[in-house]
Amino acid sequence: MSNNKSFTLPLWLDKIIYYTFGAIYEPRPTDVVYNPDKPYEFVQLYLGTYFPRSCAEAYCIASTLLSNTYYRNELINREEINILDFCCGTGGEIVGLVLALKENLPELKRVYVDAYDANPDAIRFLYHLVDNIEKTNELGLDLVVNPQGIYIASEMEIDDVVNLTNVEYEFILSSKAINEFVEDKTFDNNAYEIIATKFFPLLSQKGVFIMSDVTTQIDNSTLYYPQMMNDGLNKFIRKNHQFKTIVPPSCYLHEGYCLGCYMQDAFYVSHKKKDRDVSKIAYRVICRSDFAQIVMSNIPSTLCRADNPTADKQAPYNYGTR
Ligand SMILES: C[S@@+](CC[C@H](N)C(=O)[O-])C[C@H]1O[C@@H](n2cnc3c(N)ncnc32)[C@H](O)[C@@H]1O
Repeated sequence: MSNNKSFTLPLWLDKIIYYTFGAIYEPRPTDVVYNPDKPYEFVQLYLGTYFPRSCAEAYCIASTLLSNTYYRNELINREEINILDFCCGTGGEIVGLVLALKENLPELKRVYVDAYDANPDAIRFLYHLVDNIEKTNELGLDLVVNPQGIYIASEMEIDDVVNLTNVEYEFILSSKAINEFVEDKTFDNNAYEIIATKFFPLLSQKGVFIMSDVTTQIDNSTLYYPQMMNDGLNKFIRKNHQFKTIVPPSCYLHEGYCLGCYMQDAFYVSHKKKDRDVSKIAYRVICRSDFAQIVMSNIPSTLCRADNPTADKQAPYNYGTR
């Protein structure tokens, strides 16, 4: 059974991952911090441990979003959806998102995905995984994924990715990857702001960017990743008024002056190898301002640390807790 905070891998997907691909469940928090050069064996472990978590996170975030009737009504007649996944790895978030879309959009027939990552083994797994998923016919739609290998060494490669496409996306995803750019010191400035600046123009009129990341402390810093993400995204939005945050709803209200608080949500995923595995992330969903106004017509009131220093770190995600 799945709801907006917990998710069970469908049996057919469980079988593909653990039986067909021989994926391994083994959390390795210290090894998983930097992944572009990880070998095949580690990617197999990633698939069995972290793919289900990313799948659950995306499923739950998208299901909550689609439970907003203003948002859902805007997409309800869609037959096709375009997705861009920046640093897709084995693509758990793609599958989770597509499962949520299929449950909520009755007319949906085709989903196209442009997926980018540096790790060739992850890209290969994703390619064969989608092939296997398509053969089961369980999704009930055509899922076309175009996995592309690219190592982002500077802003120039991001420009290449952006210039490569002339598609406008209904979803842009970046799941638990931007911290690796921070860790690697790829950019001189805030990586979250840079990635937002590059990719947001690719959003369609009703498109959303789901940016999520880990919630641990940044190496050699007193800051945590969610603080850096919030700081970077708030700065981006203050410079680009054509975009607004819709999740968490508290950011919609306070991003104009918030300095970047720490926040965290928790999701649970069950599968053949583990019952209620927990995954903790911070995430924001951002879209064009005029679309945000429609979606937030009946904005739920939520607590957050920007207006209440005693608010809990999960408060921004718990709707209607004021
Ligand atoms: C923790 S994994 C997350 C994968 C996937 N998005 C998920 O949620 O399961 C981070 C991914 O970012 C990719 N990555 C990190 N730095 C990169 C870079 N400089 N260029 C391209 N991909 C990169 C890694 O190869 C890895 O697959």
